[in-house]
Amino acid sequence: MATTDRRGQPRGRRGQPGGRRAGPRAIISSKNGARVRAGAELSSAACGELASGTRVTLGGRVTLHDGTVRAEILSPVRGFVTERCLRAGPRPAATGRLWAISDLHTDHAENWDWLAKTLGGGRFRRDGLIVAGDVSSRLSVLRKTLELCAASFASVAFVVGNHDLWKERGEAFASAAEKREAIDRLCASLHVHTRPAYFSGCVVAPILSWHHQSWDTEPDVTGWENLPKAEQCMSDYYRCAFPGLDQGRTRERNSQLQSLLSRPFSTRLDMTDESVARFFDEANGPLSDDVAALRAAHPGAPLVTCSHFVPRIELVPEKRFLYVPALNKAVGSRFLGDRVAELKPDVHVFGHTHFGWDATHDGVRYLQPCLAYPSERRVRLTTVAAGDFPHAKGPLLVFDGSRFPARYVCGWSSFYEHNERRPDVTHVVPDYVARAYKRVAGVGEVGWGDHVEMPAWRYGPSTAFDSRRVQTHA
Ligand SMILES: [Fe+2]
Ligand SMILES: [Fe+2]
Repeated sequence: MATTDRRGQPRGRRGQPGGRRAGPRAIISSKNGARVRAGAELSSAACGELASGTRVTLGGRVTLHDGTVRAEILSPVRGFVTERCLRAGPRPAATGRLWAISDLHTDHAENWDWLAKTLGGGRFRRDGLIVAGDVSSRLSVLRKTLELCAASFASVAFVVGNHDLWKERGEAFASAAEKREAIDRLCASLHVHTRPAYFSGCVVAPILSWHHQSWDTEPDVTGWENLPKAEQCMSDYYRCAFPGLDQGRTRERNSQLQSLLSRPFSTRLDMTDESVARFFDEANGPLSDDVAALRAAHPGAPLVTCSHFVPRIELVPEKRFLYVPALNKAVGSRFLGDRVAELKPDVHVFGHTHFGWDATHDGVRYLQPCLAYPSERRVRLTTVAAGDFPHAKGPLLVFDGSRFPARYVCGWSSFYEHNERRPDVTHVVPDYVARAYKRVAGVGEVGWGDHVEMPAWRYGPSTAFDSRRVQTHA
């Protein structure tokens, strides 16, 4: 621990607590005062103590408590440290309800405003939250968002999405794996769970994953020309750096390299095959053992798993219904599907496709609570929404402490309750898709297919049809 001055404040360069010149600080109280620590990711050690009531001026706007006891105040902080608002020791786990949200994309100002308004007021302070990836490619925005979530909920679990690992200009990370490690450290500093944990009466288990093209086992669209490939329209293929990418190397050569290099990620990883997806799956480590230990410690507790990507093909629309049919080759993971099948959770929360979803397959309830882009909420809220989320104020309720909520009405998952999945129909595309491509005469057809009760958006929640609610809240 660093030395302190006569007021108990840590000595540091340029008078900054902890010797840091800039960057966010966290304050954690002890019984009679507050310990102060500093660091860009709030991860450095505690470095001094302040007497209760000491004025703390660290710059920036005030981020203070809402009248309730908080384990941490996340900075920047300007105000008085009092025992009333600060408490020593680790944060107690959530005992209230469990909520979920995916695809926050808070680099969009509307989404940040939605989140800040929605989480304000302290009504979630006993609850837990699952954040199922795609917050922002900018680490500063991700940090700000997770800080807000951690300050608003007693417990938060987070699993990274593809956007979170996109390379941003000026970033020093050599690979998406390095960026994920930095995000893991950020989460640890905020007490955000990235590994299985027990809170809100549930065992909550984040599962790392990445998409691979072979996950899509359904036939491609026929009878239409100029359809782009996944790697032509998914930014992941060029914004996620995977050093060593070399299509010409064989797996044998790669394994030789891997044995020579201390950093496994320096070997070939290719998003057009399964190697990146396998790499992320292996990064889960002893996930099953960790979950088993928690379930043994909390018998009877429901298991809720979460991922950013999609574990089952039944959880996406057939590709002929997509503006870009090839997107189904960049959304799911068989490795993830195997994990979910092995763990058999009560609920699995996922994201990525920006389609609200609530469906049960093989005894597992799958929920997608996507906030999505502001433009998507304006244009097609009926296929984004899950019940009253996101146009009502709050994330999606997953568990109320004693039971799971009734099924949420969602456009696409409700569509498939009324219509059989027909991947064998490959040449019939809806008009909104047909407008983007060139029809092969005599083959391609425009429509939804025989006996299909269409369109999908007619099945969306009735509240999502009122666009005024969206515009006032978004
Ligand atoms: Fe997203
Ligand atoms: Fe995503």
